Amino acid sequence: MVIKNTVAELRKYSVLDVRGAKQVASVWLERFQLDKVVGFGLPEIDDRYHVWRVPLVNKVSQERIGEVVIDAYTSLILEDKSTSPEILEARLLGRNDDRKGNTRKSHSNGTYLLSSLRNTIAQGDCEQVLQDLPAGSVNLVFTSPPYYNARPEYTDYITYKEYLLKLRKVFQNAHRVLAEGCFFVINISPVLIRRASRSEASQRIAVPFDVHRLFVEEGFDFIDDIIWEKPEGAGWATGRGRRFAADRNPLQYKPVPVTEYVLVYRKHTEKLIDWNIRAHPNKKLVEESRIDDGYERTNIWRFKPAHDPHHPAIFPIELAEKVISHYSFKGDVVLDPFAGIGTVGKAAVRLGRRFVLIEQNPYYISIIREEAKLWLGKDVKHVHAINCAPIDAENMLF
Ligand SMILES: C[S@@+](CC[C@H](N)C(=O)[O-])C[C@H]1O[C@@H](n2cnc3c(N)ncnc32)[C@H](O)[C@@H]1O
Repeated sequence: MVIKNTVAELRKYSVLDVRGAKQVASVWLERFQLDKVVGFGLPEIDDRYHVWRVPLVNKVSQERIGEVVIDAYTSLILEDKSTSPEILEARLLGRNDDRKGNTRKSHSNGTYLLSSLRNTIAQGDCEQVLQDLPAGSVNLVFTSPPYYNARPEYTDYITYKEYLLKLRKVFQNAHRVLAEGCFFVINISPVLIRRASRSEASQRIAVPFDVHRLFVEEGFDFIDDIIWEKPEGAGWATGRGRRFAADRNPLQYKPVPVTEYVLVYRKHTEKLIDWNIRAHPNKKLVEESRIDDGYERTNIWRFKPAHDPHHPAIFPIELAEKVISHYSFKGDVVLDPFAGIGTVGKAAVRLGRRFVLIEQNPYYISIIREEAKLWLGKDVKHVHAINCAPIDAENMLF
């Protein structure tokens, strides 16, 4: 007898079966102390959206009272698609509620809330740290993720699939902390995997195109593809194109990459971008955030690459400043979940925004902590430190 793989196995979901889906849902119910009173109907997989839907029933009456939706790849609960614990409680108690609104609404009811987050530096894996930030507390994400490198000795990710799964989880968590209709801008480019021996071909992996699919599946709308063009000569060190330069045979042509992508996404909402401007509660901040004349009118932005003795892959501060000034207002909170040495933080402060910087490498965190003293002066004592000691402003000379 041939045993066929299930859809979940074929797609390599982390939640493979009905039992797994119920387990994830139980843990979620336990968090709200609803596990003793809420039971399950039969979970169903929806492989168009890569989710499990687990019907929730009143254990006593067996009446259906809602559902919990689980991301099949990551096993995270999709809170905005699941029935909220408050509504489950109301239904268990037989209180009246609006049945049409049985999934958790986005936090906005037409008002635009200013975030109360302070400047924050957090050490740790951003996938985890993001779970501790309040929903809707960030107004812009700008980041450049770690590179995928297929050689295991240089990377935490053994396979490319694993790497993409990690990014998916980060985008999903960032989606929750991003306020309605706000932007996620990512600096990313294809990576070159060098050949292991002369008989093997080198491989170029089109990371931005795979990442695009993740964004769309995680609830973001595509807005723009901006090309960051570096001056001629910037990519020659890769050695790409040397073979062709020597022989000039067709098919062997390999252009030297001198561009990276700056991809712009917006957290999905029915509201127009105009709403984010009109509904902003502080007209003065909106007015002060206007972009001066002489801005770049095309989607090609030109900057020299940046280098730093402490970090191999930083982006230029000019790029961070341009993104922050074009996709956020003064006073907003800008998050970089892969913060490196904190270029986004420095640019945010320069532009009158607040920052949330998450970085897992303690050495880079130590650099951010020192640099933050220069960015903020004595205000550095107000920086919120997560998983690291508060910044000591005592011995600073001002
Ligand atoms: C391309 S660098 C970003 C550099 C940054 N744009 C700058 O200008 O300094 C990516 C950073 O992500 C960090 N990183 C990798 N995985 C992480 C994770 N799971 N959580 C937080 N930081 C992570 C790496 O240590 C690295 O510093």
